[in-house]
Amino acid sequence: MRKSVIARMDRVVNDFVARCRYFHEPMTRGRARMFVLQHRLNTRQRNSVLKLKVATNCPDWDTRIGIIQACSEEIIADYKHGGGRPHWRILEDLGVRIGMRRAVIQQAQPLPSTQLAWAAWEGLMANQHWLEGVVANTCAERVNIPGYGTGLIRKVGWFGLERHRWGKLFTLAGADLDFFELHERADIEHSDAGWRAVERFARKLRMEDAVVAACERNLRVWEHYLGGIAAAGDQFKG
Ligand SMILES: [Fe+2]
Ligand SMILES: [Fe+2]
Repeated sequence: MRKSVIARMDRVVNDFVARCRYFHEPMTRGRARMFVLQHRLNTRQRNSVLKLKVATNCPDWDTRIGIIQACSEEIIADYKHGGGRPHWRILEDLGVRIGMRRAVIQQAQPLPSTQLAWAAWEGLMANQHWLEGVVANTCAERVNIPGYGTGLIRKVGWFGLERHRWGKLFTLAGADLDFFELHERADIEHSDAGWRAVERFARKLRMEDAVVAACERNLRVWEHYLGGIAAAGDQFKG
């Protein structure tokens, strides 16, 4: 029997988690700080520009509104998991907690690698079939769900791993690390919506191979984006 499209996408996510160096190399102060600077910008760009292009292209009402709902939690206010703050603001507050100046965080510019990732995602999200776009919207959030890769990340997901690593590095605990903790819950919902859309529509639209390929390509861009944060973080003074 042919493997289901969901099983094939899960396999692609699993391979990404297994090979992406950012997950396997040690977290450092420089990398953590660079993550704050870049990921705050990245989350704003993806959720106020890129994911909305996918929503615009999506003919299924429930899926479209689900995308906009998830984006609004990320960029406007998350009352469900974030106490009313948007996710980029929660990350900004985490940056301040690890000793960064808020003004420095707010004035950050995207690295060349981040800009390249945005351009690549634009190509994968704005001008593709909406179902490929839905995969682009959600495949990286999928990594926050336990079950991919091996060891701790398999047990607790990517942001569960970060909660652990950042906690040790900066001696933080509990609510201090809410940025990571809230994603362990929020991204189950966000990524489930994407995986469900694929389950409902991929076969009907004869797009099984296309969505698996989209998952692979988008995660390659994530790998580049995270590699850029690691490289710049290793040079980072501040
Ligand atoms: Fe988020
Ligand atoms: Fe999310």
